[in-house]
Amino acid sequence: MLGTTLYIDKLGEYFTMNYDVKDINLAEKGQLRIEWAAQNMPVLKQIKDRFEKEKPLAGVRLAACLHVTTETAYLMQTLKAGGAEIALCASNPLSTQDDVAASLVKHDGIPVFAIKGEDNQTYYKHLNSVLDTKPMITMDDGADLVSSIHSERTNLLAQILGGTEETTTGVIRLSSMAKDGVLKFPIIAVNDAFTKHCFDNRYGTGQSTLDGIIRATNRMLAGSTFVVCGYGWCGRGVASRAEGMGANVVVTEIDPLKALEATMDGYRVMPIAEAAKIGDFFVTVTGDCHVINKDHFLTLKDGAIICNSGHFDVEIDVKGLEATCVRKRQIREFVVEYTMKNGHRINLLGEGRLINLAAAEGHPSSVMDMSFANQSLSAEHLVKNKGKMNIGVYKVPDELDKEIARLKLISMGINIDVLTTEQEHYLNSWTSGT
Ligand code: ADE
Repeated sequence: MLGTTLYIDKLGEYFTMNYDVKDINLAEKGQLRIEWAAQNMPVLKQIKDRFEKEKPLAGVRLAACLHVTTETAYLMQTLKAGGAEIALCASNPLSTQDDVAASLVKHDGIPVFAIKGEDNQTYYKHLNSVLDTKPMITMDDGADLVSSIHSERTNLLAQILGGTEETTTGVIRLSSMAKDGVLKFPIIAVNDAFTKHCFDNRYGTGQSTLDGIIRATNRMLAGSTFVVCGYGWCGRGVASRAEGMGANVVVTEIDPLKALEATMDGYRVMPIAEAAKIGDFFVTVTGDCHVINKDHFLTLKDGAIICNSGHFDVEIDVKGLEATCVRKRQIREFVVEYTMKNGHRINLLGEGRLINLAAAEGHPSSVMDMSFANQSLSAEHLVKNKGKMNIGVYKVPDELDKEIARLKLISMGINIDVLTTEQEHYLNSWTSGT
């Protein structure tokens, strides 16, 4: 539903706004769901309250390319409370919650360009609509804004003061741009904050991936053989939650350190070629392409369920699967069954796109609370340090990371100890030994 609406802001000023959402009539449902998520985002709420008073983002045009979820909506409300002029598009064609997109347009006056299930051409049309607002800050989840600006929209570079990046895959892309000397503005790698990856990637991906698999299949995990490809933060989370549900977890890795860690965590570790023969469920979370490919499709068991929870839909060779199957049918929502020439059926979930956002609702709000607190404070940091940051990929400053952890603990009612003077002295001295 392409539209232009007349919007009245809080000061009573009128302006027109373009948007493209599935159905603006879904806005009321979206508003309630956003309110529900916000109830579990106390750290972001504190930031929003402060932003409302201080307006640290006044006059800043910000382009966001994020999964359009209830949690993202609360982030958008926070940035807007801080004075930013925002436009939002989806960072994945399948992750948009259409009611949320409609509510942001109707109730918050935020231009959103995102429709669940949009094709690639529409995805980039939406991304370019957001870039048409001439952003000063980019907020990416996967680096598509930054890469489009650097390849096709270089005229936008002059006014950009910096960007933030939400996810591991995006940080890897941006770091390689920086290494090749092509990156043209500073980026804050929100993903690398401790209060982001240690919780969002691990517990968020862990829970929401299983949620997606269960919603899509309604299959029992207990007693199954559950193969996790990749043992980074996301893989660790998926493995531990699958184990918690009673699955026998198998891990595949290419990194000896992570493989060793998975072994000591109690999982069987083996190459994917072996795991392919025994798995009931497969989840890819490696960030790399064709982890499950033509070499494996004919060895999978009849009824095997394969899905991806990594950022891009490259981890399962879906084209290879299409090319080698003899029959294909959509057997239920989010499940396409491919029959191979040996008669085995392989069930691909969510077209090989992030299953936690395609079939479920993404990470729960209490974990996105910390991720998006990092996003908000990083945007503020970019504005405060305008012109002072060199081009490069930066960590979230440690003091912001620690402050978010402190606020989260307070919100959870958890107190911790402080060092005594004696302990502080001990830690700072090198003279006391045995
Ligand atoms: N990435 C994973 N889960 C998410 C969520 N709930 N909102 C935004 N981005 C996400």
